[in-house]
Amino acid sequence: MSEKDTLTGQTHLISRRRLLAAALVTPAVLRATVAGGAAQIQTSKSRTALVTGSSRGIGAATAKRLARDGFAVTVNYVQNHALAAGVVREIEAADGRAISVQADVSDPRAVRRLFDAHDSAFGGIDVVVSNAGIMRLAPFREMLDADFERMVDVNQKGSFYVMREAARRVRDGGRIITLSSSITQLRSPTYGPYAASKAAQEIFANVLAKELEGRHISVNAIAPGVVNTTLFTDGKTHQQIDGFVQRTPHKRLGEPSDIADVISALCGRDGAWINGQTVFANGGIV
Ligand SMILES: NC(=O)c1ccc[n+]([C@@H]2O[C@H](COP(=O)([O-])OP(=O)(O)OC[C@H]3O[C@@H](n4cnc5c(N)ncnc54)[C@H](OP(=O)(O)O)[C@@H]3O)[C@@H](O)[C@H]2O)c1
Repeated sequence: MSEKDTLTGQTHLISRRRLLAAALVTPAVLRATVAGGAAQIQTSKSRTALVTGSSRGIGAATAKRLARDGFAVTVNYVQNHALAAGVVREIEAADGRAISVQADVSDPRAVRRLFDAHDSAFGGIDVVVSNAGIMRLAPFREMLDADFERMVDVNQKGSFYVMREAARRVRDGGRIITLSSSITQLRSPTYGPYAASKAAQEIFANVLAKELEGRHISVNAIAPGVVNTTLFTDGKTHQQIDGFVQRTPHKRLGEPSDIADVISALCGRDGAWINGQTVFANGGIV
């Protein structure tokens, strides 16, 4: 079986299983002919996705998963060029298409340049995942101005800049997803400013979903529980981490791929009807 990509003109061998999976996630843009056991699939318009903060953690797992789903992907990072390049290499090694672009999401001009780079490479955008984020924990009385301000800059302002650009550029029928956190419900001590910056994502998604009415673009927030990345584990003792595991009915930390799977589902055809919601993906911790 062969797959012809009209953007690159490349022909790849594909399995019947991959053909079926591609048809499930991209029915509107695919034409498949099956004759006498041979199948040909043609991409009339390649779908593309931009994932902020995808050099590692949840973002990297999401970029790789969306690439496997057939999206051409922009991998964004702020400082870890080598990690982002590694994600691109992994995607390419699996016959996917990806570029990496440095941009600090807290800078609105950098966000515009990020989207411009994506458009130049892929000619349009269907999915934006506003994932870049940071976490600084301290009780109110000890929280430093600089840590508080950086969280507002990256998590709240940064995600707003990304979602604003997404609202301007995502093609009809697309998806916009932003990362909240189940901490908006858990509300544990030391998490106040971080949780507030994540709660903003739930409002952003709900309001933007309404603003984009008539364009069949679904906008949602995803609220992971505790996920095995340095954002969560850094600065915590084994005992503290285990405390969260014990509070999770599934009795383990989430893995980045757990969240990428949910994002993939929202980005597929079957996810379209979920719109303006916060999807809690947390193994039951809340
Ligand atoms: N891990 C959890 O338990 C958990 C739970 C709930 C929600 N979340 C949310 O999920 C998202 C991803 O978290 P994670 O755990 O995967 O984090 P992570 O492993 O620390 O990765 C953070 C990613 O964001 C990028 N980044 C940081 N600041 C940026 C900026 N100013 N501009 C552009 N990119 C920036 C980093 O790039 P560099 O590599 O270049 O630094 C990296 O790719 C965050 O929004 C977080 O709040 C995480």
